[in-house]
Amino acid sequence: MNKLALVTGGATRIGAAITAHLAQQGREVIIHYNNSAKEAQALSESLQTTYKGKTFPIVQYDLFNWKKIDGFWNDVVQQYGVPELLVNNASLFHPGRIADTSTELMESMLNVNFMAPFYMTQAFSRTATNGDVINLLDTAITTNATTHVAYLLAKKNLGEFTKMAALEWAPEIRVNAIAPGPVLPPPDKSIDHLNAVALKTPLQRIVEVKALLSALDYLLTNKSVTGDILFCDSGQHLL
Ligand SMILES: NC(=O)c1ccc[n+]([C@@H]2O[C@H](COP(=O)([O-])OP(=O)(O)OC[C@H]3O[C@@H](n4cnc5c(N)ncnc54)[C@H](OP(=O)(O)O)[C@@H]3O)[C@@H](O)[C@H]2O)c1
Repeated sequence: MNKLALVTGGATRIGAAITAHLAQQGREVIIHYNNSAKEAQALSESLQTTYKGKTFPIVQYDLFNWKKIDGFWNDVVQQYGVPELLVNNASLFHPGRIADTSTELMESMLNVNFMAPFYMTQAFSRTATNGDVINLLDTAITTNATTHVAYLLAKKNLGEFTKMAALEWAPEIRVNAIAPGPVLPPPDKSIDHLNAVALKTPLQRIVEVKALLSALDYLLTNKSVTGDILFCDSGQHLL
């Protein structure tokens, strides 16, 4: 249980909850962030106070620059050791239908939501002799009607990659994914918006963060599971 973990986008929202949960389980966690330096620092300090003797380093990197991820990863490994758990949580969620998807929008969605986790996972597999990768997807990967075309294409790719990587890197490394439904409203939307989305799911309920954490625990502890996409979405993928 004492594996070193790295959580991308691990300083805020769902990422911060995952970081704190892994820390509670006795892991040391490298908290990756891009813009949220203050949140990363505060989370690291609070975890260090709670779990004395453990370290929770913070590392900044803009995942748009996926071509330099190898260098970033090597620096992390040199400074803090080899992570045996990688959670690809960081994400960008910008709207656009096909007609209004500019090349810039497509590039940023693919870079952050697909190319970066792809090359983070590849870098992880070069250094870890065994371990786990967890990719955060979106329940919408089962659908085609969307206002977020480039985002959804990137998440669909990440879902397919999860299965391919699981096969290529077994038996040493397990690669699984969680596809959440409505957990937290996007920063520009209210809780009412999330409630309205949740009411349309079969279970008519928001997905609690603790439900996501229990999905994470299942994937990390069940050693017979790899290449799995666990829908934690109040049944939304069934629609
Ligand atoms: N919220 C939901 O209800 C929901 C639903 C379905 C799926 N999901 C998935 O669950 C995961 C977590 O969701 P969330 O709502 O907590 O995510 P979020 O708040 O939208 O983003 C998480 C983190 O991604 C990081 N990030 C964005 N662009 C980056 C870049 N260029 N380089 C590095 N990091 C970057 C941000 O870090 P900084 O703040 O440091 O810049 C941010 O803290 C995501 O993968 C999301 O797609 C969430």
